[in-house]
Amino acid sequence: MRTSSTKRILVTGGAGFLGSHLCERLLQAGHDVICVDNCYTGTKENIRALLGNPSFEFVRHDVTFPLYVEVDEIYNLACPASPIHYQFDPVQTTKTSVHGAINMLGLAKRVKAKILQASTSEVYGDPTMHPQREEYWGNVNPIGTRSCYDEGKRCAETLFFDYFRQHRLRIKVARIFNTYGPRMHPNDGRVVSNFIVQALSGHPITVFGDGSQTRSFCYVDDTVEGLMLLMNSGDEFTGPVNLGNPGEFTMLELAEKVIELTGSKSKIIYKTLPQDDPRQRQPDISLAKKKLGWEPKVKLDDGLARAIAYFDSFLKSGMSSLKNEYPLDEARSG
Ligand SMILES: NC(=O)c1ccc[n+]([C@@H]2O[C@H](COP(=O)([O-])OP(=O)(O)OC[C@H]3O[C@@H](n4cnc5c(N)ncnc54)[C@H](O)[C@@H]3O)[C@@H](O)[C@H]2O)c1
Repeated sequence: MRTSSTKRILVTGGAGFLGSHLCERLLQAGHDVICVDNCYTGTKENIRALLGNPSFEFVRHDVTFPLYVEVDEIYNLACPASPIHYQFDPVQTTKTSVHGAINMLGLAKRVKAKILQASTSEVYGDPTMHPQREEYWGNVNPIGTRSCYDEGKRCAETLFFDYFRQHRLRIKVARIFNTYGPRMHPNDGRVVSNFIVQALSGHPITVFGDGSQTRSFCYVDDTVEGLMLLMNSGDEFTGPVNLGNPGEFTMLELAEKVIELTGSKSKIIYKTLPQDDPRQRQPDISLAKKKLGWEPKVKLDDGLARAIAYFDSFLKSGMSSLKNEYPLDEARSG
């Protein structure tokens, strides 16, 4: 039943990894959710459990085209997030970030909705400042193979702030750092899912370079909590705000942890570091702590155990045919 606190909320990219968890949490909080997705990297499988819920609607739509719906809030998550996926059709990736942002900002302006952008730590590029604070402008290659994603997201941030200044839109910009958990695509090149799938399948674990490059990993429940707190923060707080886990691990440490937790006999093999792969990435989350009272709660071991349980049952289920869609040794640290 709708109450005065029930909001109509649009989640673009809602059938993806983060989006499906966000839809779930918003429904649990009593809201009506419209999930818009073109299923480029997301799947209906991710939202299957929600499809029978009368407060949930799924709309297959590409955000590079305009959309007309009446909503109170918009979470703009639509965009392929892993290097293998966003580099597959780089022009579409930039269009999704830029045209998608224009279309969603236009919608927010028309219906006076509050709008949140899922930006990324990739806007910092290969950072020369550690840990990264929101004031840092980044070190991004504008013409490399990662640029369609990095520059697309940077341009989307620019659009958000121009709509804020020019049209007084209520905006929120979250810079999300590596997030992991159940429903990540099993072979999308993201390091956590790839290491787990490789370990569970008994394949060698592919580490790029010497494995000394570091990343920080945030469990999906923590990231989703941060996004919702940001959306519900006062209108004067726009961000950008970092959401991530400051605990830093080398790729080698992660590979060893995954082997230990899965009990796998997989060996670690080394490959050449890809172009523009950042050496180090670690969020400074002081702003999120101060403004949102947010910090990650789930420890890496606990989160990895939950992700391993998901991939284990996924690989044993009929869905495991998906595992051949992308080469297993394409693991990237992005
Ligand atoms: N997961 C992370 O670690 C991470 C880190 C930083 C930022 N982000 C951002 O969070 C968002 C969600 O990421 P994710 O990890 O869930 O990735 P994902 O690929 O699982 O989800 C993205 C979703 O967007 C959909 N999509 C792509 N192009 C679209 C289009 N043109 N129109 C409509 N839908 C489209 C996909 O089908 C998919 O369901 C992305 O914007 C990503 O850039 C994620």
